[in-house]
Amino acid sequence: MEKTDWQQQLVCPECKAGLEKQEEGVFCLSCKQLYPVTNNIPVFSESVGLSSFFDQNTKKHGNSPLVYVNAASPFAKIASTHNFRLRKKAFEKIFNFTDKTILDIGCGTGNATDFLFGENHVYGLDISMEMLKLASSKGCRAVFSSLSRPLPFCDNYFDVIFCLGVIPYFSKEQLVPIFEELNRVVKKHGSVFLGSPSQGLIRRIPFLRKRKNKKIRSIYNQTEILPLFKGVALEKIYDLFFPFPFIREHKEPVDFSLGSNWIAELRKK
Ligand SMILES: C[S@@+](CC[C@H](N)C(=O)[O-])C[C@H]1O[C@@H](n2cnc3c(N)ncnc32)[C@H](O)[C@@H]1O
Ligand SMILES: [Zn+2]
Repeated sequence: MEKTDWQQQLVCPECKAGLEKQEEGVFCLSCKQLYPVTNNIPVFSESVGLSSFFDQNTKKHGNSPLVYVNAASPFAKIASTHNFRLRKKAFEKIFNFTDKTILDIGCGTGNATDFLFGENHVYGLDISMEMLKLASSKGCRAVFSSLSRPLPFCDNYFDVIFCLGVIPYFSKEQLVPIFEELNRVVKKHGSVFLGSPSQGLIRRIPFLRKRKNKKIRSIYNQTEILPLFKGVALEKIYDLFFPFPFIREHKEPVDFSLGSNWIAELRKK
């Protein structure tokens, strides 16, 4: 096992005690639980249903945004490649962080935040080992864990948290404890950027609706999700108008956004 110092900064998700690196993995000094380390990635949970879907897609598509697309029709291929390119450009403008401790929840291959890896300490959490291997090769501190478990980080640890494109996989009831965990690990006055595909215009077109990814539980709008997130103040909402390179910023959540994705900036009080 390659020895990496950052793994020592993780804590036991169950009892929050410190972890010690050993030959077989990382070991909880308090409850004596041993978490294996595979491909230099600590493993804190079992695989979930989606793990093999994303593993297989990653073996096929690698770093391409097609790893997230369920049925890669010619239309989906062009649209998603274009959308990801535009989103990256928008992100590079909005998120110019340096020297921050950052958590990317549901980081996938790291495609959303990899431009931050070099200048910051970026941790990425996901349930696909294949995706995490790619993220790790780009400099991400990759951690295998499902969001249905407590996070392996101590309180008030992160300056910035990204949670992008992940909430559609969960019901509202499941999201409440997840948001509590995000609130726990973000620093006071730190930011959580919570993003989701929206029920905007593009997804109301019946032709596109039919192609909806069956693995996704729900596409949420802002007004139903943001009130579930307690202990934070809403700073700003970015609406991303794909397929056009246009971002609208606003303060109040809306039921019907014209964009295809929204990202809310939430600041811990
Ligand atoms: C649509 S992708 C979004 C990837 C990236 N955040 C982005 O915006 O490009 C959703 C990601 O959430 C991850 N995910 C799904 N269920 C999860 C769970 N229970 N725990 C952690 N991650 C999960 C998937 O493996 C996948 O990488
Ligand atoms: Zn423990």
